[in-house]
Amino acid sequence: MKQVKGRQELISAYIDFFKSKSHKEVPNSPLIPQNDPTVLFTTAGMHPLVPFLLGQKHPLGTRLCNVQKCIRTTDIDAVGDKFHLTFFEMLGNWSLGDYFKSESIEYSFEFLTKVLGIPLDMLSVTCFKGDKDAPADKESAEKWKKLGVKEDRIAFLPKEDNWWGPAGKTGPCGPDTEIFFWVGKGKAHGNPGVNPKDWAEIWNNVFMQYEKKEDGSFQELKQKNIDTGMGVERTVATLNGNESVYDTDSLLPLIKKTEELSAKEYNDETGKSMRIIADHIRASVILLAELVSPSNVEQGYVLRRLIRRAVRHGRTLGIAGNFTHLIAEEVFKIYPDYASIQKNKDFIIKELKAEEERFSEVLEKGIRYFERLKETIKGKVIDGKTAFLMYQSCGFPIEMTQELARENGFEVDIVGYEKEQAMHQELSRTATEGKFKSGLADNSEATTRLHTATHLLDSALRQVLGSHVEQRGSNITAERLRFDFSHDEKMTPEQIREVEKIVNENIGKQLDVKREEMTVDDAKKLGAIGVFEHKYGEKISVYTICDPKNIYSREICAGPHVTNTKELGKFKIRKEEASSKGVRRIKAVLE
Ligand code: SER
Repeated sequence: MKQVKGRQELISAYIDFFKSKSHKEVPNSPLIPQNDPTVLFTTAGMHPLVPFLLGQKHPLGTRLCNVQKCIRTTDIDAVGDKFHLTFFEMLGNWSLGDYFKSESIEYSFEFLTKVLGIPLDMLSVTCFKGDKDAPADKESAEKWKKLGVKEDRIAFLPKEDNWWGPAGKTGPCGPDTEIFFWVGKGKAHGNPGVNPKDWAEIWNNVFMQYEKKEDGSFQELKQKNIDTGMGVERTVATLNGNESVYDTDSLLPLIKKTEELSAKEYNDETGKSMRIIADHIRASVILLAELVSPSNVEQGYVLRRLIRRAVRHGRTLGIAGNFTHLIAEEVFKIYPDYASIQKNKDFIIKELKAEEERFSEVLEKGIRYFERLKETIKGKVIDGKTAFLMYQSCGFPIEMTQELARENGFEVDIVGYEKEQAMHQELSRTATEGKFKSGLADNSEATTRLHTATHLLDSALRQVLGSHVEQRGSNITAERLRFDFSHDEKMTPEQIREVEKIVNENIGKQLDVKREEMTVDDAKKLGAIGVFEHKYGEKISVYTICDPKNIYSREICAGPHVTNTKELGKFKIRKEEASSKGVRRIKAVLE
């Protein structure tokens, strides 16, 4: 195997290879999308290419490649572990109606096994299993086999794993084949469908055959495209046998600088804070290089969150005084090829210093306030008013208050916070008219989400086990849902997996959750399920989870519920057990 030491080497090898296959290199686009108001950041190499994937002619032709800077904020709270990043670089190659599956797979195979010299035995692949929107991708699997990949190294997986896009709500998307590298112990074996923890994804080849429309339908694209993506940090880490992306040359110098500034070693105790600082300051520098300033809206708010969270973790490590600009100096060295960073160094440093100073003035006050709160609070929930106060007078972005709360075993009433914030804005707008609002709800965001998930679970159970399934009880806390239902036998692992799959697919479909008021009789006529303990003629709430074509669940319930299933995250069944005779109990969470 060829030794690829760092980012520059991998990037050059990749771009040179695709140039040798008649691809033209397209520039690394800005992180702030130029023509797409639906997203805050460029999240993939294909993103700036969307008009061309939909048929517009690209000035450089039909074969393109590049390295693209990306930010994904969905995992921002997970940053701190050894894998998650907000900013990362993505290598990609594209065919705009030129070559399709066969050549795309051939190129990936040649680059990995010939250019990088990875032994075939260290690789495995996944292909799309097929569903109602698109058939199973047998063609890709056959191609891999022809190239020598053994059958037991090929997994067929559903949409959650082997489908990509669209990047926003609508746009080009399609099934994909993903390539994995062995990171398990001993001799490589199995595949990501069998022993997923032993395999790390390094490359994703998307076959963009469809366009997802506003109404959720998938329409065949006239022009069939290839869109591939390979994460630079992850691939460098994998090829070097590193345990973490933070051990690569894209991040390690930042960890080392933090060690020096805090006079502490990078270890299990300090690791989380050091990784948060490394990731967040790297992302902040690259954002600042595009002349975004910290603010309370949109990209500026994300930047503010990144810098403030890094500052808090710096103080946790005992770093006194302004330090973020010193970490930034390391970022300048890692990316000599980014002209925007090199050109805007003064601006970057000035903004980092100013934001750090602004926040440092109130950070101490916020921490002290929180410590006092911890002593006096009754129960485990920090109310919305308090969380809003932390934001207003101590500059704690709500996500930081939530993180601090979690670290101390508390929850924040996020719905209450939002109400408070809305009320505050309303108050300041209408103060002169003497108006004010009241009536704050006290349902937390977590329980609201779990309530809605229970409906999806109920209908998935009926689908998998049969229509004899009826709710026998339900109990929801902020952490988990508990659902009792009529069924005589223990569920098999397959049935549990199938129920999870259906719920997650329905979450992925971004279904609307609608509330209507009606009489019990009308609800029954509409086929609503649920507990009918109501007086004749009494008005009740019925929640319907649907898209324009189908109804997935219709249930009588007292709420509270989210308005779209996309707010739910990933559904996981933790336990299935007997509750009483003929009644089973499921405990499940949203991750
Ligand atoms: N768009 C796909 C991804 O982000 C492949 O580039 O993984």
